[in-house]
Amino acid sequence: MLPVNQGSDFASEVDFIYMTLFWGSVVFFVGIVGAAAYFSWRYRYKAGRSTPHQTHNTTLEIVWTVIPTLIIVVIFFWGVNGYMKFAVPPGEALEVQVVGKQWLWTFEYPDGTRSVNELHVPVNKNIRFVMSSEDVLHDFYVPDMRIKRDIIPGRYTQIWFRANEKGLGEHVTTCAEYCGKGHSDMHAKLFVDTSADYDKWMATGGTEWEDYKTHMEDWGKIQWDRKGCSTCHSVDGSASKGPTWKGIWGTMVKLTDGKSVLVDEAYLRESMMLPQAKIVAGFDPIMPTFQGLLRENEINGLVAYIKALK
Ligand code: CUA
Repeated sequence: MLPVNQGSDFASEVDFIYMTLFWGSVVFFVGIVGAAAYFSWRYRYKAGRSTPHQTHNTTLEIVWTVIPTLIIVVIFFWGVNGYMKFAVPPGEALEVQVVGKQWLWTFEYPDGTRSVNELHVPVNKNIRFVMSSEDVLHDFYVPDMRIKRDIIPGRYTQIWFRANEKGLGEHVTTCAEYCGKGHSDMHAKLFVDTSADYDKWMATGGTEWEDYKTHMEDWGKIQWDRKGCSTCHSVDGSASKGPTWKGIWGTMVKLTDGKSVLVDEAYLRESMMLPQAKIVAGFDPIMPTFQGLLRENEINGLVAYIKALK
């Protein structure tokens, strides 16, 4: 009955409170509904039977007021205690900036490294997330770590966790607040790394494809998936929130202002950096800018990948 992945120190505590409330509710539900059912049967109408007039029963009323009040007070302080631990990050924590936007996640680490839809954290370290939104309300939710908090435009919110050994590996991070038509695609992968793996990832900025130059299209395909392009651009010709990339290279596309533009390197680069400059007819101007989020080799890879998608 318990959720399996308990990736953070919070998890077992959250699950314990949750399951206590759940089973407590089951006990009261069965007790109350059972008593109601029993009494309605026991004191059902019978010809000639009359019930003496009852005003009240002081003992019973004190018991059913005091006991539930005590239970609720205990639950309240238990909950507040857990909430405070969860809401106040410890002073000593690695700080990661989280930016939510329609419809992707970007993460920035203390050394300036940035990643899109992929978050790496070292195991057994306190990680504090400082979160902001570039557009609408989002919600940073990592189920395996039992953390969840709104990201509010024009404000910073924060949350933290400490991943434990059980949490090593890959987890899902998702948006838990409806934020538009791409909401259900707004995922990021969370990797809890050993501290050696984390340092290695930091050192390479996630560029593990060492000979990317000889496999530019493959490198581009990785970026398509990793940077969130796949959320809106299909590569098999199917319809999505943005134009499909299949067969687009070298064609003239019609824009919303009635002009046409040749799909070449310059146009593709401009579309990544200044996506609002030229909008393809039939699509909404919803693409976020990737300025500062793509390295040169990643842009080149994406262009090569689009070229290869005949
Ligand atoms: Cu962002 Cu839902």
